[in-house]
Amino acid sequence: MMNEKVLGSTGIKISEIGQGTWNYKGDVVPLRLGVSLGATHIDTAEIYGTEEVVGKAIEGIRDKVFLATKVWSDHLGYDDLLRAAEGSLHRLGVKCLDLYLVHWPNPAFPIRETMRAMEELVKCGKIKHIGVSNFSLEELKEAQESLSSQDIVANQVKYSLDAREIEEDLIPYCKSQKITVVAYSPIKGLAIRKGNDLLEEIASKHGKTRTQVALNFLTSEENVVAIPKANSLEHVKDNCGASGWRLSKEDVRRISERFK
Ligand SMILES: NC(=O)c1ccc[n+]([C@@H]2O[C@H](COP(=O)([O-])OP(=O)(O)OC[C@H]3O[C@@H](n4cnc5c(N)ncnc54)[C@H](OP(=O)(O)O)[C@@H]3O)[C@@H](O)[C@H]2O)c1
Repeated sequence: MMNEKVLGSTGIKISEIGQGTWNYKGDVVPLRLGVSLGATHIDTAEIYGTEEVVGKAIEGIRDKVFLATKVWSDHLGYDDLLRAAEGSLHRLGVKCLDLYLVHWPNPAFPIRETMRAMEELVKCGKIKHIGVSNFSLEELKEAQESLSSQDIVANQVKYSLDAREIEEDLIPYCKSQKITVVAYSPIKGLAIRKGNDLLEEIASKHGKTRTQVALNFLTSEENVVAIPKANSLEHVKDNCGASGWRLSKEDVRRISERFK
């Protein structure tokens, strides 16, 4: 069974393992399989070119899905952002997004203006929640301070066994502020990674795969969810099986030491 985690300060729950769609080439079937296995958090972006396929995949099951998309960093002016949101809603074929994220920070646009547009979208019912992506701790704080009536509920950032810098500052800060960390590129490069013998050992002890162990490690913090991308049905199943169980504290410690 898929674990769920509370999204930021919202009280609503989202799947611990979601489905990324950057470079997604799987058509509707893998995404729908993922949803049926509990990976109901689907992540896309206006820049990915996958909003249409996501829209097709969620036809008839919209109410089961937590739908997130992102506004590109050239569209962070007030009017452009409102237009970009309309474009995403249209391509996805939905009336409202569950989560709308700023894809990358862009100093060319004052964050206050961007967040004003985000709040307007919440006010008029086009998005439910506001998030950011690739924001450093300082940028995240600025974004929080720019909001007047809403919270930042998620920061989507790179987090994998190869990229653990956010454990230092971002994860603890987000935890203290009730912000969900959405781990992107969580498994890329796993096959060529050093330390796979340890992952193998722990995987076989739990009757899991190496990828499942790696994903379970990342989501062992209570405010972290992950969004692996999978084109194949086999990979979708594997990723969904990364949830519903927990590595022991000792497993987490050993993996953490090995992948420092
Ligand atoms: N906000 C941002 O700036 C940003 C940046 C990058 C990514 N993202 C988001 O994060 C998502 C995931 O990141 P990502 O696509 O870069 O990398 P990823 O999910 O870590 O890795 C994807 C690669 O892993 C393979 N794979 C998937 N499941 C597997 C499994 N169980 N066992 C072995 N290999 C498996 C995939 O193969 P197949 O596809 O062939 O199954 C694909 O080659 C993206 O799709 C996107 O939604 C966001």
